[in-house]
Amino acid sequence: MLLNAPNESLCMHNDRQVTQSLKTYELAGKLIPGWTQLISRRASQFANGVSPIYAQCAKGARFTDIDGNSYIDWVSAVGAIILGHADKVVDQAVKEQINRGSLYSLNSPLEVELAEELVDTIPSAEMVRYTKGGGEACAVAVRIARGTSGREKILFCGYHGWHDWYQAANYLVNPEDGEFPFSGIEPIGVPQVLANTVIPFAYGNLTMLEDLLKNNQNQVAAIMMEPIRSVLPDPGYLEGVKALAQEHDVILIFDEVSCGWRLSIGGVQKYLNVVPDMTVVAKAMSNGYPMGAVVGLRNVMEPADRMFISSSYWSDNIGLVAALTTIRELKQRDSETRFKEIGDKLIKGINEAITDLGLSGMCSGLYTNPTINLDLPDDTLGSKVNTLFIQEMSSRGVLCYTSLTPTLAHTEEDINLTIQAITDTLVVIQSGLESGDIDSLLTCNIKKDPFRRLVR
Ligand SMILES: Cc1ncc(COP(=O)(O)O)c(C=O)c1O
Repeated sequence: MLLNAPNESLCMHNDRQVTQSLKTYELAGKLIPGWTQLISRRASQFANGVSPIYAQCAKGARFTDIDGNSYIDWVSAVGAIILGHADKVVDQAVKEQINRGSLYSLNSPLEVELAEELVDTIPSAEMVRYTKGGGEACAVAVRIARGTSGREKILFCGYHGWHDWYQAANYLVNPEDGEFPFSGIEPIGVPQVLANTVIPFAYGNLTMLEDLLKNNQNQVAAIMMEPIRSVLPDPGYLEGVKALAQEHDVILIFDEVSCGWRLSIGGVQKYLNVVPDMTVVAKAMSNGYPMGAVVGLRNVMEPADRMFISSSYWSDNIGLVAALTTIRELKQRDSETRFKEIGDKLIKGINEAITDLGLSGMCSGLYTNPTINLDLPDDTLGSKVNTLFIQEMSSRGVLCYTSLTPTLAHTEEDINLTIQAITDTLVVIQSGLESGDIDSLLTCNIKKDPFRRLVR
């Protein structure tokens, strides 16, 4: 049951308790190593002690936690929800498919239907393989790139999941230094022999990429990168990457797991008109049902027919039907226009609040991912102020980070209530900055960043 709290109570600074969440989390700590399945869902990623940790149901742009509190959700399942939670049309299609069977002994024609839809939608798509998630799809893309090129090294820029091919990059640095790619996370359990097979490059730096290609001449199978995350690249940057890839005969893979679908249904490659050889998509493509895909040009993908890339549940009908319906609904609902409207409204409203309060800073970035950055007197205050922001927003019934991920289900009312909650939160932050005592306003632990990303 979704508790539809009246607006006033939703945004009032009330006495929300998260007792059940905290109790359950304590128990999880005894049963589940690392508490959660996704690092971004750990309590330490929010205002631990104030933010909800477990949800019991979600609908549209809102969810209810297991203590019965209702929230506006701007985390949107780390971007996986794009139409809104429990979308009627997608869920109906899924329910009908469940009645027809979720997994057959034979193949499902939905595999071919979705492949056609992806080919029609994503510029780099001529052939398609499926998975159930983003990291898994990245691993498949890397296997295909290595198999097709006969080379082994991967140059990468971004976050690409938990698999060995990628995590081996952390052997390149001393984790204590906090350098590439996941500061402070050691590659425990990742075979040391993979060290040097995967090398990071800095976003925006074509010289660095060119040097790496020259220093690893004829050894690089692919450049794997997130083409953007929350800001647009400098003009010509992605074109420059593509030119270098072509010059060195290297397969260019765009990881659009996070940046795909919202800005353009055809992906960032369509939005910026830079077409890679392969693309990885997942998350929002199926609005909350497990699904991922590797798509690419025929000459790069076709050799995969001789590679061992195979898994029972990749044929699952639920993900296929959810993806087909989600993509068609995005087109039907003119999602690109609506995302621009929502993002522009948020950015404008938040910037007005910042200006009216006389704070220094701004809300900027892509309208699909508006991000608030306050200028602070001291860099060390960053994590405290971020945590205070999340704490105050949570206690006002809004779950978010300092960046927001819209869905098509966010209404004008959700947007207005959120801008009001942000305004009230900024007042609290301002008082802490003026008194020089943010600490006394924090009633939770300081948020910990799980890892540093290469693409902002
Ligand atoms: C760009 C990118 N690639 C890959 C992944 C991994 O996807 P998944 O969590 O579905 O395995 C993520 C997840 O955040 C991502 O943002």
